[in-house]
Amino acid sequence: MALIQPSGMKKNVIHISETGLTMLEDKTIILGVCGGIAAYKAVELLRLLTKAGADVHVIMTRAALEFITPLTFQTLSSNPVHTELFNLIAEREIGHISLADRADLFIVAPATANVIGKIAYGIADDILTTTVMATKAPLLFAPAMNVNMYTNPIYQENEEKLRRLGYLFEAPVCGSLACGWEGQGKLAAPETIFESAVMALTEKDLSGQTIMITAGPTREEIDPVRYISNHSSGKMGYALARAARLRGAQVLLISGPTALAAPAGVQFITITSAVEMRSEVMAHVAECDVVIKAAAVADYRPLTRNSTKIKKSTDSTKMELVKNPDILCELGKMVSGLNPRPFLVGFAAETDALIENAAKKLHEKNLDMIVANDVSQTDAGFNVDTNRAVLFFKDGSSCDCGLMTKDQLAGAILDHVVAHLAEQ
Ligand code: CTP
Repeated sequence: MALIQPSGMKKNVIHISETGLTMLEDKTIILGVCGGIAAYKAVELLRLLTKAGADVHVIMTRAALEFITPLTFQTLSSNPVHTELFNLIAEREIGHISLADRADLFIVAPATANVIGKIAYGIADDILTTTVMATKAPLLFAPAMNVNMYTNPIYQENEEKLRRLGYLFEAPVCGSLACGWEGQGKLAAPETIFESAVMALTEKDLSGQTIMITAGPTREEIDPVRYISNHSSGKMGYALARAARLRGAQVLLISGPTALAAPAGVQFITITSAVEMRSEVMAHVAECDVVIKAAAVADYRPLTRNSTKIKKSTDSTKMELVKNPDILCELGKMVSGLNPRPFLVGFAAETDALIENAAKKLHEKNLDMIVANDVSQTDAGFNVDTNRAVLFFKDGSSCDCGLMTKDQLAGAILDHVVAHLAEQ
């Protein structure tokens, strides 16, 4: 079969580095750091942003200088740290304006009640607040303060005003605060702020779409201590769920047992067996525009499940297995009766005759697209961070994605979904 790129495809793969982080290579980010004990956590956020390839420029308030030195930020960002409004003007370039113009995103973390209050009232009396006023980039605040300051109606009104104006907030979390109080006020984890930053920068080309993704293995219980399963880690399905969410879709992730945490912002349903997965899939399919079945469903289950542990008695034993429902095959039949018909994507895990087997599954399961991967390769398939996939489409076209990280492949699969939805 010839490998042809379907026409009208938009290049919008979410760029992911080898470390699995989203590449922000072409992005300029301003990181504003205010004076609070959480200022040290901004160092970790800076590290995540630079590791993802972003060009980060740090602005510190005077109060922030009391908590951490500019040298730390300068070393990790490889850029000079901005602390003075007038020094920059002396450089014959209006520094804060040129920085404000170049930014793709402005993050203030930690953001204090004082700085948020000043911005809410248009006060621009230092390098940070002046640059905030001058930028047209999206702004993400990650507040951190004492719980009583955070719940103070004056602060809440200021935050509400900024939210109404389109500013983004990553709410502080509950915990024991440096001031000795317990409650909401701790800076959100750097990883959470990073994910919100990626969210703010990602084009929302799946907005308005509801996508169901199944992931991980199923487990078919033999007795209370044993089960039949497979090597699926769930990484591919979870990468798809994260990428679809970042691109604006409403995501329902139905997952078998895995060691992974659910991506932020997705509706998460856990199941154990194929029969349980089937009932959750069928309960939700009518709400979905797209269904992606990345799960490695066990084809057979024991005819009976022993309620007590089976004891070893004989030298050999036999177990009768019965076929599990083929969920995707049922879906393929069922969606024909739905209007609009959801876009159906299957996976084919193969160890031989990849093209023939994938094409057969595409046809027999009535799919729009199938992601075929050769799981006999050490860098593809189960339990690794990379994959080698060929995508086959209903119209006979296909696309060889080559070796990619699972995050990159998730982006590539969703690019094709977007292109095909646009054609429908
Ligand atoms: N699938 C499913 N229900 C099953 C078995 C598979 O929904 N009982 C789905 C998988 O989620 C995947 C696709 O069907 O999207 C293909 O799965 P795969 O394991 O590659 O193939 P099978 O259909 O099980 O066929 P075989 O095991 O013979 O290769």
